[in-house]
Amino acid sequence: MCGIVGYAGTGNAAGEILAGLRRLEYRGYDSAGMALWNAETRRLDVVKSVGKIDSLEKRLKKELPATRSAYAMGIGHTRWATHGAPTPANAHPHVSDNGAFAVVHNGIIENYQTLKKRLAADGFSFKSETDSEVIAHLIQQCYEDDLTRAVSAALKNIKGTYGIVVISNLHPGVIVAARKGSPLAVGICRDKTIIASDISAIVQHTDRVIFLEDNDILTASANDIEVMSLNNIPISREMTHIDWDIEQIEKNGYKHFMLKEIYGQPEAIADATRGRLLEDEGSSKLDGMQMSAGEMASVDRVLILGCGTSLYSGMIGKYFFEDFADIPTEVQQSAEFRYRNPIIGDKTCVIALSQSGETADTLAAVREAMRKGATVLSICNVVGSTIARETGRGVYLHAGPEVGVASTKAFTCQLAVLAMMALRFGRTHRLSLQRGEEIVQSIRRLPEYIRAVLEQKNAIRKIAEKYAQFKNAFFIGRGYMYPAALEGALKLKEISYVHAEGYHAAELKHGPIALLGSDVPVVGLVPKIPGYDKTLSNLQESKARKSPVIAIATEGDRHIMEHCDDAIFIPECPEFISPTCAVVAEQLLAYYVAEKLGCEIDQPRNLAKSVTVE
Ligand code: AGP
Ligand code: GLU
Repeated sequence: MCGIVGYAGTGNAAGEILAGLRRLEYRGYDSAGMALWNAETRRLDVVKSVGKIDSLEKRLKKELPATRSAYAMGIGHTRWATHGAPTPANAHPHVSDNGAFAVVHNGIIENYQTLKKRLAADGFSFKSETDSEVIAHLIQQCYEDDLTRAVSAALKNIKGTYGIVVISNLHPGVIVAARKGSPLAVGICRDKTIIASDISAIVQHTDRVIFLEDNDILTASANDIEVMSLNNIPISREMTHIDWDIEQIEKNGYKHFMLKEIYGQPEAIADATRGRLLEDEGSSKLDGMQMSAGEMASVDRVLILGCGTSLYSGMIGKYFFEDFADIPTEVQQSAEFRYRNPIIGDKTCVIALSQSGETADTLAAVREAMRKGATVLSICNVVGSTIARETGRGVYLHAGPEVGVASTKAFTCQLAVLAMMALRFGRTHRLSLQRGEEIVQSIRRLPEYIRAVLEQKNAIRKIAEKYAQFKNAFFIGRGYMYPAALEGALKLKEISYVHAEGYHAAELKHGPIALLGSDVPVVGLVPKIPGYDKTLSNLQESKARKSPVIAIATEGDRHIMEHCDDAIFIPECPEFISPTCAVVAEQLLAYYVAEKLGCEIDQPRNLAKSVTVE
């Protein structure tokens, strides 16, 4: 689930691995560790610590027996605990009983209890509570004289998901890696090889990357790379060029990545829409969809899949598809879809939304939809990610790397791409040229609308500081503003740990109103779009229960102050643009509340950037 870095090169493996792990910090983790091959003693030295990479670095300085130059090969890990508490013993790497094999693992070994019992009966002793430790002992048990064969033999015993990297003091300079369900990429450089669970740890070394596929096993040294199947049959994997540069993943003077990413939205949207809007045709050009106008015209149902923030952008996407294209659209949480024997017709188009392109539930849902013969498109941000590769068609966001765990620019770019997709479908259905042209114009103006919201920064900050001490909050909205309310509540709870609920404004009186009172503020999303008057009444209901009310309203709404205590203004814009503006305001609100409360904004507790477990 979390971060892996493997390094084979000519020197300072510890430094290189630390730098890589720092690039992966954004994914969220609770402990970290490293195993290094010591050229002086010809043994593996292991250092682990609970907490941040800084504390691992301190321990490395204190505990590594040799000078850094004695280490030219190693593996590092940031752990996001699934089995066993975050303790030094449970941190990775895990080492085999005989001390010869060290392994880092992302994912979950589902049959680890059976394996553990069997290995214990065979005399192996366990030092951790993790599922991962069985891999190290299994490799020792399967080893004859070939590391790769020992790893593939060990993996044949395993049920579950893994991205693993293994080193051994019996094979100096050799790194073996394998994946099933947990991403791994290999950077191709001169005189060194870097393996990582995420290309952010690779881009400072090279732009040439190979992505491992499920059931691949890689054997690498500083100058050589070989990919095979688990049955030892050589496989050739294509090299991908990555166009992310190092500046894009630095903070560029912002206090947090999240703030940088909130502010980067006008540019990110400009990148996501560049070259994709067709003014004269009132349509869009999204070649990655690989669908002819005829194929699109025959689609009679759209099914959108996603989790978390991607689920909420999907819910807004439903309005786009129904408003622009008249295509009945359903949105399903990916896990719900994968376990429900879903109905898919031959005219159904499935759209999978995922920033990371690695979310386990969305990936499994995509596979199920493909097995059922649906047309499956993906909308991902991370180039070369598993969902993007497996669907084979879809649209990249081109939002640049999103580092903050709380998704911001990916959300607004997803909305821009969904709007362009719905527009394209719409033009093969009943959407007129004129309406199409208007939509194109509005999408073009998105960066300008967002800038207008960002200019409200100081006002939003003041309001955030005023309300930061409240322990509970409601976000309410109707129509396009309903999913926007869900997203606002998610942002606030993720990064500030304030308990926030997103509700349809009309649902308030069906239960949650019981909770309202002077200690529970209500954030009402009331731009001037259909449903405005009705939501105003809901704000009045809230006021009547003494809840402080914060309105997110349209600039120039002169009467809004009669219905609220504080207001945040978004520019006047078409209805379908309004959720983008409202959510940007909510992002800033959440950010400043979390900042006021002194929270760890980029890596909130318990959260991971890409959720590669169920
Ligand atoms: C958003 O702020 C989240 N941390 C989370 O809900 C996220 O959107 C979800 O895990 C889905 O991720 P994906 O878009 O990478 O699939
Ligand atoms: N399941 C393993 C553990 O709990 C790996 C967790 C991870 O992916 O970070 O140690």
